[in-house]
Amino acid sequence: MTRLAATATAPANFALSKYWGKRDAALREPSVPSLSVCVEGLTATATVRFHREPGPDRCTLQGRPADARTLARVRRVLDAVRSRSTGLGFAEVRSESDFPVAAGLASSAAGLAAVAGAAWCAAGLASDSLDAMALVARLGSGSACRSIHGGFVAWEPGPHGSRVYPVAPPEHWPLELCIVQVSGTPKEVGSTEGMEHALRTSPMWEAWLRQAPEDFAAIARAVSEKDFAALTALAEANCLLMHATTITARPAVFYLNPTSLEVLDAVLRIRRGGLFCFFTMDAGPNVKVFCPPGLGDDLADALRAELGEAVLIRRSRVGGGLRLLRGDP
Ligand code: DP6
Repeated sequence: MTRLAATATAPANFALSKYWGKRDAALREPSVPSLSVCVEGLTATATVRFHREPGPDRCTLQGRPADARTLARVRRVLDAVRSRSTGLGFAEVRSESDFPVAAGLASSAAGLAAVAGAAWCAAGLASDSLDAMALVARLGSGSACRSIHGGFVAWEPGPHGSRVYPVAPPEHWPLELCIVQVSGTPKEVGSTEGMEHALRTSPMWEAWLRQAPEDFAAIARAVSEKDFAALTALAEANCLLMHATTITARPAVFYLNPTSLEVLDAVLRIRRGGLFCFFTMDAGPNVKVFCPPGLGDDLADALRAELGEAVLIRRSRVGGGLRLLRGDP
């Protein structure tokens, strides 16, 4: 039965093993496998309402009309849903997130996952087909596919297209984290452009393609064995190699800024002081610092002591995935 309107919420996800590079840009097929965690407290909520008549799709983001780029991403998701159903015309989409958009806090992943989930449900498609829903979400933004299943999620390229699958639920290893918000302003070079530029111009690209699958396998093993020491070494190295591809691109792109580097330095000091933790960063200056379950308060105190009030620290933990709020008006 076609429902026509639905609302869904989806979390941000942070990669421990990064998606960086596409083997097929139009289909957003990744060059390398990635593994991420969905996190609590950074959530996007989207409502999608399909009409029967054809027409241009409309989309608001945080209450304002979406720019052309965002609208194009949303439309790719809507088109994929429309192609799996019948009699669906244009859509009205409303998306809100409770954290800064485009500041390296995975807002596009959460937003497009929520749009995909809401559109899927509004079209009356089976709400338990999370794998298919995830592959639709990735057409809007690759990393969005990892915000559908909760907990630890993998996304792997394959000969017949990529595959998204849950690796472990949040309860398996409820890691905690502090998000050190160095900046809340939109980044200058988006991930799409950053990875494309690195792929075309960085002499480090070949090294990335060789190393990333190895890191992914070892990170999946560390997660399955709950080996925090192994995960620390692997996740930091994987993140820094990803950043090395943009720093060595021509011209260079820096997602880290001087404050990000101070945060990384603080994490190393905190670790030397005996508190288990590691950092990761995405295509923006903010830093995510993970610690074992139960140590989040200690980590937040230690980061505050090192960094003072100059940065904003948000606490979070590994959490669930998409939630469909059915039959919304
Ligand atoms: C650095 O999913 O934003 O966060 O598919 O071009 O929309 P597009 O890219 P996007 O890239 C995310 C890259 C990353 C690493 C990751 O999340 O794995």
